[in-house]
Amino acid sequence: MRSTGGLFISFEGIDGAGKSTHIESLANVFRAQQQRVVTLTREPGGTPLAEQLRQMVLNDVMDPMTEALLVFAARRDHIQQVIRPALLRGEVVLCDRFTDASFAYQGAGRGFDWNVLATLETWVQGRAPNDSLVPMGQLLKPDLTIWFDLPPAIAAQRLLGTRVPDKFESQPVSFFEQVAGGYAQRLASDPSRFVRINADQSPELVWQDLSQAGRAIGLWI
Ligand code: TYD
Repeated sequence: MRSTGGLFISFEGIDGAGKSTHIESLANVFRAQQQRVVTLTREPGGTPLAEQLRQMVLNDVMDPMTEALLVFAARRDHIQQVIRPALLRGEVVLCDRFTDASFAYQGAGRGFDWNVLATLETWVQGRAPNDSLVPMGQLLKPDLTIWFDLPPAIAAQRLLGTRVPDKFESQPVSFFEQVAGGYAQRLASDPSRFVRINADQSPELVWQDLSQAGRAIGLWI
């Protein structure tokens, strides 16, 4: 919880990990149990400009640096227009993917330079002058990141035939092995921010684990 009362939670995992339904359920928990105002949003996207960038990132072929710059450009607009204002109003922000996805997909998946990504993260998520959201010397980051961890081979089976795959969803299992490795690396570098959920279970059991994890850290009842 921040000084403004806002709470920022991101949700991560490879394509097919099944995070979307649980995000909606969590929003309902915050609304019903705690009478909180919830901003439900996603990346890339969440603003008209960032949604346009999303279309390009998900559909157009481009080199890894262009892709990295576009996801961070989308993130900057999203932070300025939606995330910061919501946190300043004391809301709960639930974000379907955030910067860990850039490290996992563009960094580990595409092989783009991890250090350049860290620099972009510093630029885009840097503290504003007189920032009441971000303590001195820190970046605007989620208070909590829930990682739906699923073996890539199982994710591929789940995605089979469900819809027309986008640029990422049509990548081979080996790409998602690398992406999953990227998430593991992000967790290892900031373990207290992460909750890892075993997503290789029925939706009911995943929800049980998620609820229990939130209760354990006092986020909900
Ligand atoms: P996803 O969140 O899976 O949405 P949907 O369920 O509607 O398909 O799709 C977003 C895709 O964008 C996903 O494949 C990961 C990718 N992505 C990046 O490559 N880098 C990023 O920084 C972000 C936020 C997402």
